[in-house]
Amino acid sequence: MATFNTPASAIEVRLALEEDSRWIFSWRNDPVTREMSHTHNPISWEDHRVWFDEALNNPARCLLMCSNAQRRVAVTRFDLLTHEALVSINLDPDLRGQGLGKVSLEAAIAYFNALHVKSYDLLAEIKRHNLPSRRVFEACEFILEREDQATAYYRRLTRDRADRTGF
Ligand SMILES: CC(C)(COP(=O)(O)OP(=O)(O)OC[C@H]1O[C@@H](n2cnc3c(N)ncnc32)[C@H](O)[C@@H]1OP(=O)(O)O)[C@@H](O)C(=O)NCCC(=O)NCCS
Repeated sequence: MATFNTPASAIEVRLALEEDSRWIFSWRNDPVTREMSHTHNPISWEDHRVWFDEALNNPARCLLMCSNAQRRVAVTRFDLLTHEALVSINLDPDLRGQGLGKVSLEAAIAYFNALHVKSYDLLAEIKRHNLPSRRVFEACEFILEREDQATAYYRRLTRDRADRTGF
């Protein structure tokens, strides 16, 4: 576990565990989360269990749980591609609108980067109209690469590449 102190809050980050399953399930079925996801239908507990078990055991997927001193705050997902990782975040619906998305994402990225010897560019695919999410990723140094009708595509250069390109 690693603690990242930010002006807004102290966020602890660790790998997701089996005991986090029911929180992640409940946050995933929140209506706003579903609206902002690729699949909109509610997920059944059984489907979630299969997905979660696979996610915990998949070496190409990294699920991180962010908490503050009181409670679990957000889950972040990093899907490892060849040179990049696709990132998403889901904040406890009860805690939205307080700036916790940005500090959680920052803390999760720091944890993810510390876990890996190899550096990954980070990608995010966000619904165009998901303005809070776009603000959060932009605040965490994600740069808009392109947009299509539905989706905004963002990239955050690895620190190595960012230094070389003067970003
Ligand atoms: C996206 C999410 C992580 C944002 O976290 P959050 O902490 O609740 O975000 P906030 O409400 O504090 O808003 C973040 C920023 O967007 C701004 N914002 C919020 N609603 C907005 C709107 N409708 N229009 C423009 N800006 C808006 C806020 O003012 C804030 O800006 P600031 O950082 O400059 O103050 C959270 O809402 C969430 O989990 N949503 C559901 C899942 C999801 O959409 N995940 C993203 C997919 S990758």
